[in-house]
Amino acid sequence: MNQSSQSSSTQSGKYSIGFIGAGNMANSLINGLLATGFAAEDLWAADPDCTQLARLSGQQGIHTTSDNNVLVSHADVIVLAVKPQVIADVVRPLHEAIRERKALVISIAAGITATTLNRWLPDVAVIRCMPNTPALVGKGMTGLFATVQVSDQQKQSAEMIMRAVGETVWLDDETLIDSVTAVSGSGPAYFFLMMEAMEDAAIKLGLSERTARLLVQQTALGAATMVAETGEAPAQLRRNVTSPGGTTEKALGIFEQHHYQSLIAEALQGARDRSVELSEIIGKS
Ligand SMILES: NC(=O)c1ccc[n+]([C@@H]2O[C@H](COP(=O)([O-])OP(=O)(O)OC[C@H]3O[C@@H](n4cnc5c(N)ncnc54)[C@H](OP(=O)(O)O)[C@@H]3O)[C@@H](O)[C@H]2O)c1
Repeated sequence: MNQSSQSSSTQSGKYSIGFIGAGNMANSLINGLLATGFAAEDLWAADPDCTQLARLSGQQGIHTTSDNNVLVSHADVIVLAVKPQVIADVVRPLHEAIRERKALVISIAAGITATTLNRWLPDVAVIRCMPNTPALVGKGMTGLFATVQVSDQQKQSAEMIMRAVGETVWLDDETLIDSVTAVSGSGPAYFFLMMEAMEDAAIKLGLSERTARLLVQQTALGAATMVAETGEAPAQLRRNVTSPGGTTEKALGIFEQHHYQSLIAEALQGARDRSVELSEIIGKS
């Protein structure tokens, strides 16, 4: 364990970032920040798991501690990367220290609203984020919402942190976090389902499992890359590859017969409504 007594970052006008919870998401963010040139000496992680901490301090050279209070005494930006069910117990005892330090708190915990966070952390600048699982491979998508106490500089810090693992979008209305949850938060699973179904169908068409996986994987990657790199709308790209009377038109016609687009709309509406419900349940508990 590596507990230095002071942060050089604050002295040099930069800032230090502390992660409470050093699990999957924190590790991805730490790796992403180090890859973008953020100094290891300005990063802290706190977690009960000493093995995890030893790896982070040994391999990545960041400061680690099993005491969240120690982390708060060094961090200008605190990222809450623990499971939603433990977050209240984690932050309540840290409130005074965070407030006195005027630290920014960034929560990536699903379903915990900024209002709920500010109930546990009054007078603290809070940013709520909704990342998604592809952040674990540097291809994440994060929606961010800042409370009124958050300064422009703090917003820039939060954006820089989340951009270390993918793209970001700011929301000026927190209720839209539930829509982001329905689209990009749960979204990877929708694409996994589509890929799973295509793989199964490809095998039924006589292809081997290995070939089916490769065809589907590369097609999904290629289609997403075309949308990202051409700047064309998916609808236009679809039209571009749909020749009248051809194979693509035949397949798309069958999707349409089964109301594919309204099915997607209904699924996303369901996910959004469930996100609202879950936030209410967590907020009351
Ligand atoms: N993974 C994703 O793709 C994803 C996507 C969107 C949002 N999120 C959000 O990101 C957050 C973290 O998710 P994750 O997948 O990284 O979870 P994770 O791998 O379980 O990491 C959470 C870490 O927090 C530690 N922890 C538990 N209690 C603590 C305490 N009192 N003080 C400090 N650390 C403590 C846990 O240790 P123990 O294991 O020993 O309990 C664990 O190492 C969650 O709130 C989740 O909703 C994750």
